[in-house]
Amino acid sequence: MEEATQPRQPEPCEFMPEDYFSRLDPSSIFENEKPLEIDLGCGDGSFLNAMAAHYPERNFLGVERLLGRVKKVAKKAHRAGLTNCKVLRLESKYTIEWLFPEASIDRLHLLCPDPWPKAKHHKRRLVQQDFLEVLFRVLKPGGEFCFKTDHPEYFEWVEEEMKTFGKFTQLEWNEDTFYYPKTDFQIQWEAEGKSMHQLRFLRP
Ligand SMILES: C[S@@+](CC[C@H](N)C(=O)[O-])C[C@H]1O[C@@H](n2cnc3c(N)ncnc32)[C@H](O)[C@@H]1O
Repeated sequence: MEEATQPRQPEPCEFMPEDYFSRLDPSSIFENEKPLEIDLGCGDGSFLNAMAAHYPERNFLGVERLLGRVKKVAKKAHRAGLTNCKVLRLESKYTIEWLFPEASIDRLHLLCPDPWPKAKHHKRRLVQQDFLEVLFRVLKPGGEFCFKTDHPEYFEWVEEEMKTFGKFTQLEWNEDTFYYPKTDFQIQWEAEGKSMHQLRFLRP
């Protein structure tokens, strides 16, 4: 007889929904009503942790599919004593499409996602019309979407997808707009001489 697998114990700053197949109550993540920001594909989480430390009046949830990275982010947040930072091990699109209810997210960050450069892989890019439909639904009115890439062609792709979708308003975004630390990948790519491109949109 096969041995039953024990459920994995979450790290202290890891968020595991009770039910992965129902919409969650966003206030159950942090058990308070502070504004919620989501970082899709948070990687090693330096950005997420730095944001949470800088903005204690907001909550930050990282979403990451790789368990090793999830554990690393959660450990960093726990060590730093951050009570407004958690990480969820799940697929990005599934998370916002199936877990989050309408108008529940204040700001969503998509930073340095895989650009899938080959034409035959473009369909794997996260930013597509169906993703934008979901994004529009889960952001609160007045909510924002921040996107960064080092890949000029993915940058143009996102501009085009946004234009086609037509319901978001582009906002100005420069160094002085607000505190916004560099991500691990951004630091690595800039050290290799690549430049970053960024876009910021408002959900009216
Ligand atoms: C290029 S890294 C960028 C990490 C981080 N945002 C940064 O800028 O340092 C992309 C991250 O997204 C994660 N990822 C890619 N596709 C994902 C998906 N569909 N759902 C969840 N995480 C994903 C990868 O595991 C990886 O950690």
